[in-house]
Amino acid sequence: MCGIIGYAGKNNAADVVYKGLKRLEYRGYDSAGAAFMLGGKITVIKKEGKVETLAQYLNNVSADIGIGHTRWATHGKPSDINAHPHSAGAITVVHNGIIENYSELKERLISDGADFLSDTDSEVAAHLINEFYKGDLTAAVAQAVKMLKGSYALMAIRAGESKIVAARYKSPLIVGYGNGENFCASDEPALAGICEKVCVLEDGDIAEITADGVNIYNGNLQLVIRSVLPNLAVSESLGLGDCPHYMLKELREVPQSVQFTHKAFYGVEEKLKSALSGVNRVIFTGCGTAYHAALIGKRYVESFARIPAEAETAGEFRYKNPVFGAGAAVFAISQSGETADTVEAARLAKAGGAKVVAVTNCLRSELTRIADVVVPVAAGVEICVAATKSYTGQVAALYLCALTLAGEDIGGWRGKLLLKMPELCKKAVESIDAGALAQLCASARGVYFLGRDIDYAVAVEGSLKLKEVSYIAGEGYPAGELKHGTLALIDGKTVSIFIITDGGLAGKTENAVEQVVSRGGKAAVITNVDGVEERLKDKADYFIKLPECDKYLSPLVSAVAVQLIAYRTAVMLGRDPDKPRNLAKSVTVE
Ligand code: F6R
Repeated sequence: MCGIIGYAGKNNAADVVYKGLKRLEYRGYDSAGAAFMLGGKITVIKKEGKVETLAQYLNNVSADIGIGHTRWATHGKPSDINAHPHSAGAITVVHNGIIENYSELKERLISDGADFLSDTDSEVAAHLINEFYKGDLTAAVAQAVKMLKGSYALMAIRAGESKIVAARYKSPLIVGYGNGENFCASDEPALAGICEKVCVLEDGDIAEITADGVNIYNGNLQLVIRSVLPNLAVSESLGLGDCPHYMLKELREVPQSVQFTHKAFYGVEEKLKSALSGVNRVIFTGCGTAYHAALIGKRYVESFARIPAEAETAGEFRYKNPVFGAGAAVFAISQSGETADTVEAARLAKAGGAKVVAVTNCLRSELTRIADVVVPVAAGVEICVAATKSYTGQVAALYLCALTLAGEDIGGWRGKLLLKMPELCKKAVESIDAGALAQLCASARGVYFLGRDIDYAVAVEGSLKLKEVSYIAGEGYPAGELKHGTLALIDGKTVSIFIITDGGLAGKTENAVEQVVSRGGKAAVITNVDGVEERLKDKADYFIKLPECDKYLSPLVSAVAVQLIAYRTAVMLGRDPDKPRNLAKSVTVE
């Protein structure tokens, strides 16, 4: 949610910042901008639109210091003026986060004579730093951020001073170390291939970055030491390869995501076992697709361990004054590990005395600093805004967590079933032809995904994915609930997609297919249960056949099917599935 990058060094800052912004674009893409310093003079370029809009203005720019920003608007519509950087006097700033008390700060600054140009909350940071500047940019930033409520990862430069001053609180920010050059960015992929060593700034840290070195201070400007770590993002994995979109590329990486997550689990199994000993209640939480994985985690824990489990969206969970009680464990699920609601839900759970388990794809994220145990999802960097391979990785991780809670050996029969899944996922990705069904969806007024139990959990994921990338309205719904209201929406302009992977419940869901078809609705069935296609062959318009597998592991293949339907529909409608409108990856604001 907004990406920022800074560079000080021997190479042209314009090139480094532009490339970094391209890598960060999945965090927001409604406008972009950068400020460059050469010979003490700052030039600002900012435009509404995607990062590539900046390219034509950068041809003749050369600079030794630069800061850049790609925006996902929170305060103020996407426009040239509201794009970052924002300046006040000689100060120029880029900011990711939300300054919650910006109105009162702005009012006060205006009454003191400040002239605001944009509608953003971020501009107050530039004015505050300018106001506090008394010859030392680092001191001015330290003083200014003390006034801010909310979250920030920001970078400031001042005309005539060859340094970047960065600060963070509740928004991610890393420093990158080079030779004769140093960096600062929202995440590691932004620096992949150009910087091998990084450190993760902590809340309240302030960093001074020059071409020659980096100093990191706490909020009282005392020097602090932060661990220097290898940059985990590898540049080769970030290209599109032969795929037209990251969404398809990442769907093709589902098998590795499941396989590597399984492998990585061995490294954490013992720690998890001891952290979970005595646990008598489990709460799964997350947002969006991660919440959909939570719905599956709940079913795994209840089925395998027979321990009561709940799943709740993090945004609801954190504000409902939850009761934890002795023996509660909270599983916070997040691809990015930076989603504001999930991070705060985890913090709340920790403060409430619950054991906190982070299930995340980003091992240096904020969530990992809060958790008692981190269960890795080894999906690799996910660039498409719509989550795919991270979801299947989360499901695989939750399966193993539930086995551990149940006291089962993960090398036992259930664990062995998971070992077969990468091959079956590959088969699903390669064999499912979602084209004809996508064509039907593309012209539908509404698309409904229906299923029971675990299939219902995948149905809501299918619906979210289709809405997100194709902009077609619809809903994911329990098949049994259809007749209690939603059936009123069904007519010839709607498509209902049924997921049937549990032989024991197949007959029940088949009834729902009949109810839809007899009201003139179009129906499609995704199944790997014997006999379903035969029984429904005159009723449903389309069938997607899934590889046969254990019902508990079926989400790993049925999710591939629904995500492929969403992808094909989006492409058919000319949408960009990697950058859906109004969205961004890594939602670090509330
Ligand atoms: C949907 C999607 C989002 C994310 C949600 C949580 O395709 O990607 O719904 O799942 O924003 O993000 P993380 O997992 O980073 O916490």
